[in-house]
Amino acid sequence: MPILQAKNLTLGYNEQPILRNLSFEVRSGSVFIIMGGSGCGKSTLLKAFLGLVKPLSGDVFFKNTNFTQASALQQQAILRRCGVLYQSGALWSTMTLLENVALPLQLHTRLKAPVIRDLAAFKLSLVGLAGFEDYYPASISGGMRKRAGIARAMALDPEILFLDEPSAGLDPMSSRRLDDLLMELQKHLGTTLVIVTHDLHSLLDIGQDSIFLDPLTQSILAQGAPRDLLAHSQDARIRKFLSRSV
Ligand SMILES: Nc1ncnc2c1ncn2[C@@H]1O[C@H](COP(=O)(O)OP(=O)(O)O)[C@@H](O)[C@H]1O
Ligand SMILES: [Mg+2]
Repeated sequence: MPILQAKNLTLGYNEQPILRNLSFEVRSGSVFIIMGGSGCGKSTLLKAFLGLVKPLSGDVFFKNTNFTQASALQQQAILRRCGVLYQSGALWSTMTLLENVALPLQLHTRLKAPVIRDLAAFKLSLVGLAGFEDYYPASISGGMRKRAGIARAMALDPEILFLDEPSAGLDPMSSRRLDDLLMELQKHLGTTLVIVTHDLHSLLDIGQDSIFLDPLTQSILAQGAPRDLLAHSQDARIRKFLSRSV
């Protein structure tokens, strides 16, 4: 069963479409990659899933619920089940890593402070940051900051984790470690991952399904497992995009 579905989704700003009539579904528990060059509308699509951009037409479904047509209250309830790592990946610089991860738990649960501390520390250990609870974001590496951002996004045990350009700004080694971490999370926690990228690194390995967005036609140029697209796509643009990463 799909956990997330776009149905005839047209997105844009000021009534000007940038993506038209997109229809696709994300299977529950899968790793779904949204690919395409800079400016084609990947972040916009992600924002539409999060209710931050209102579709010009069409709908987003979470399971059987029409998210686009839902009330603000229903949307909030659905978003509680989603985690997000934004492109900027910003952590609160004046808070320690533990405090950053604890914040969503403080805001959205009634758990007591010691339980929240334990949970936050556990999430940090899941992303390989045990022992760094009291560090501030400025004193750790870019790769560690991304992982802390993932721990924060995972604080409320989301069913879906959205990641916008998670490996942007990371060296190839840190990027590879991040991909490994995402695979682990997906495998052990069953979290559905929706990952936006213009730069594949090793995502070919982890993506089970994908769409490739094309700014010229404002539509989906190709759809399928990235590996299959690389092996079989007749389209030179797709092969070029995918072969950069291997
Ligand atoms: N808030 C906005 N208002 C108007 N245009 C925007 C806004 N955000 C993005 N755009 C435009 O929409 C297009 C897609 O942007 P974006 O979704 O950020 O692309 P990507 O993430 O693929 O690089 C770009 O041409 C961008 O300039
Ligand atoms: Mg973007």
